[in-house]
Amino acid sequence: MAVDVLLGLQWGDEGKGKIVDVLSAGYDLIARFQGGPNAGHTLEFDGKKFVLNTIPSGIFFENTMNLIGNGVVIDPITLKREIDKLKDAGHDLLAKGNLMIAKKAHLILPTHQLLDAASEKRMGEGKIGSTLKGIGPTYMDKTGRNGLRVGDTTLPDFKERYQKLVDKHVSMLTSLYGEVADFSEREAAFFEAVELINKFQLVDSEHLVNSYLKEGKKVLAEGAQGTMLDIDFGSYPFVTSSNTTTAGACTGLGIAPNKIGEVIGIFKAYCTRVGGGPFPTELNDETGEELRRIGHEFGATTGRPRRTGWIDLPALKYAIMLNGVTQMVMTKADVLSGFDKIYACTHYNYLGEKIDYMPYDICCVEAVPVLKEIDGWNEDLTGITELSEIPAKLQSYIDYLEKELEVPIKYLSVGPDRKQTLVLHP
Ligand code: GDP
Ligand code: IMO
Ligand code: MG
Repeated sequence: MAVDVLLGLQWGDEGKGKIVDVLSAGYDLIARFQGGPNAGHTLEFDGKKFVLNTIPSGIFFENTMNLIGNGVVIDPITLKREIDKLKDAGHDLLAKGNLMIAKKAHLILPTHQLLDAASEKRMGEGKIGSTLKGIGPTYMDKTGRNGLRVGDTTLPDFKERYQKLVDKHVSMLTSLYGEVADFSEREAAFFEAVELINKFQLVDSEHLVNSYLKEGKKVLAEGAQGTMLDIDFGSYPFVTSSNTTTAGACTGLGIAPNKIGEVIGIFKAYCTRVGGGPFPTELNDETGEELRRIGHEFGATTGRPRRTGWIDLPALKYAIMLNGVTQMVMTKADVLSGFDKIYACTHYNYLGEKIDYMPYDICCVEAVPVLKEIDGWNEDLTGITELSEIPAKLQSYIDYLEKELEVPIKYLSVGPDRKQTLVLHP
């Protein structure tokens, strides 16, 4: 057996949560492999809506187990809040025993969040636009080899280790930024949340996932963020601090590259980005505003308005190459209904040349999109359940994208609900 991977091909918020939920019934294990509570994965079914930050999106299926992998950074306070909210909604994860947490996953401390905020403040206009969840500083401590891991919370000297790291953060905050906000309340909440986390099954994700595969069980790795936010290949420095690509699933769970099966790449029928950084097809006009309004493009985690624009084919081709995408999902096609004309960026004009790839210095040199005009469709898509109901002009858009991207679009999403999903290629 191999691990299938589902990940974002754009700048995040492509609808990963919804589609992982849709696919979950066919898997024995759903495993998050990177990122942390910077993610906000939305699921809707039976008239209910859930936003998950750290918990994998397979949590609502009776026979599916869920794993927060070693590559994830965990904020115990947020995780506790998620667990509590689910319990209030009738999903008691502790009682069900369907959530496991990797011992090697790193912990986000309250002071990591202070460092994130201080760093962003110091950057002023040029800030990343981080979610302020402490992601960057936590991964810095991980690669700097002085982070704290979930497994450490069970050690007798955990409090001393915690204090040592906090002392380092406080001295950094004082010397670099000249201020340390009071974090005593969050610290108390942190330790309370750690107690709850310790009641869950703490595992070695590498052994767990590989034993699942050996037993012939089906595993789906759930990505967070999107390829264009990858630390190595995204629009650096306007990226997150982890590998959001397929390779991240290997290191973030402990699986070998030859154990990767299908790679399911997900993208919106248009494009969004939240936070700073280059976005070649961005629409700073009424059309962009329309896309934001109709698509409810406001961050699931921070509530910030998402920047909107047309689909970007050079960026998608790049993402497909980096991830080895074998099948795709297109979401939010319904949002484009009623637009007379839609557009796809086929190339960029960059330093006087027409190019069809993402240039290295996209953050500093403007890449002006070359747009192809495409006929829009008027029909409301949100109620369609049969392939025969797909409007001809939407079908032409799908055909065009499949031809350009050379990967089949297996699923078409036409609304936020679990049921609003069509299988285009059985
Ligand atoms: P994720 O981070 O990739 O899981 O995506 P988010 O949950 O942050 O953002 C996607 C948003 O679009 C959520 O509000 C979803 O409920 C919603 N959504 C997902 N698929 C569709 C779709 O096909 N049509 C519409 N209209 N909304 C969708
Ligand atoms: P999901 O999983 C969209 C963006 C932030 C910022 C940059 C760095 O819901 O798709 P960070 O907090 O990671 O240091 O912020 O990355 N970002 C996301 N944008 N969706 C996400 O997650 C994101 N997670 C981080 O807005 O630009
Ligand atoms: Mg999101």
